[in-house]
Amino acid sequence: MKLIVPAPAKVNLSLWINGKRPDGYHELVTVLHTVNLFDTLTFMPSDRFELQVEGDQLLPLGRSNLIVKAAELFRRATGIKPNVKIKLLKKIPIGAGLGGGSSNAAAALKALNTLYGKPLSEPELHQLAAQIGSDVPFFIRGGLAVATGRGEKLKHYNPAHFKLLLVYPDFSCPTAEVYKSLPPINREMGVEDAEKLIISPLIVGNLREVAENAHNDLEESKHPCVERVKREVKPVLEEVGVKPIMSGSGSCVFGLVEDEKEIDLSPLKKSGWWYKLLTAI
Ligand code: C5P
Repeated sequence: MKLIVPAPAKVNLSLWINGKRPDGYHELVTVLHTVNLFDTLTFMPSDRFELQVEGDQLLPLGRSNLIVKAAELFRRATGIKPNVKIKLLKKIPIGAGLGGGSSNAAAALKALNTLYGKPLSEPELHQLAAQIGSDVPFFIRGGLAVATGRGEKLKHYNPAHFKLLLVYPDFSCPTAEVYKSLPPINREMGVEDAEKLIISPLIVGNLREVAENAHNDLEESKHPCVERVKREVKPVLEEVGVKPIMSGSGSCVFGLVEDEKEIDLSPLKKSGWWYKLLTAI
């Protein structure tokens, strides 16, 4: 039997950092929403575990690949050896702050669980997901959520309806390095603050207020990649007529779009960068 599953990208509508933890991770409060940009995973029966990547992006296929990690954790948690061939069609840019690798891992965990008769409950899937990466638990359900802790503690909301213009410049940002180059930040943000600033206006469709309140502390990083995003990419989106918001650790920047007829895409066309008008899902 063949199983085909989509793995959506996400954007961070905001990301505040409360401080650095003793384990080296950062304590954060972030608002995430999945968007209609997808990788696709196709599962086929096989006599061993195999991963094959299609698309023009280079990806590791060994243990550092998050799908391979997901399959390994699934095997350890259930005792079931996942003998499947997984074909990954990669459309989400890598190192872009869109959570592509994390989404692939969550999709793999869920699909393997389905293929092998649901040996794991949703809380168990969530726990395995958190072992793979901070963003992976969010993708188990996707939609709209506020994530806290290192990103693994989630409060979900009904998905919102909005459009966004997403830009991927022709460079990527290394997440761990971006975090490492942050100056000390100490905030006391909570889920209620994220709800007041982002979730509530989003739910009533007040995109202007969401954009005004949107904030990403990772833009404080002194990493050259983030500086380049601020210097080169954000101004182009301003020219287009939307407030630019960096997603996660970059390099993607997006703007909320109230009326696509009111924006002028010509600065983006001139830039030569990849861009797309997307819908929150
Ligand atoms: O959890 P994940 O492996 O996706 O995180 C990638 C890197 O981003 C971590 O190694 C860490 O350096 C940084 N990070 C962090 N605080 C978080 C999430 C990620 O410092 N809450």
